[in-house]
Amino acid sequence: MSSPEPNTTRDQLLKAAQDAMKNAYAPYSHFKVGAALLTSSGEIVTGCNVENASYGVTNCAERTAVFSAVARIGPKMEIRAIAIVNDHDAPCSPCGACRQVIYEFGPKAVVYFLGAKGWTEQPITALLPEGFRLQ
Ligand code: THU
Repeated sequence: MSSPEPNTTRDQLLKAAQDAMKNAYAPYSHFKVGAALLTSSGEIVTGCNVENASYGVTNCAERTAVFSAVARIGPKMEIRAIAIVNDHDAPCSPCGACRQVIYEFGPKAVVYFLGAKGWTEQPITALLPEGFRLQ
């Protein structure tokens, strides 16, 4: 598949995601996840999963990264690419909720993740066909 981003960008994002993963709070699942996104203004913002004793309010690494980016850069923040890693080297694509959140801020975003067939690069629109939008 052709890459809209240079490989150095992907490698930078994967490295940043690995670093962010070290801060994960995952005492229940013992499954640490890190995410790093590249904005259209060239900034890299990271996130990790943050679990809770009330399991359902756990925040995935991807959403932590997106919400941090909005908090840091503002509501016009646009995602160009996002990379996700985990500490089990397990195939792990973004969950459905995170796909919708990525789509909100990056309808043209590229997503890098470890898929069933190895490292994978997919546009968010392939992972979330017909994503929901109000505007
Ligand atoms: N998790 C993520 O952070 N991102 C994903 O894409 C899938 C799942 C987290 C949530 C929870 O803390 C742990 O992984 C196990 O589900």
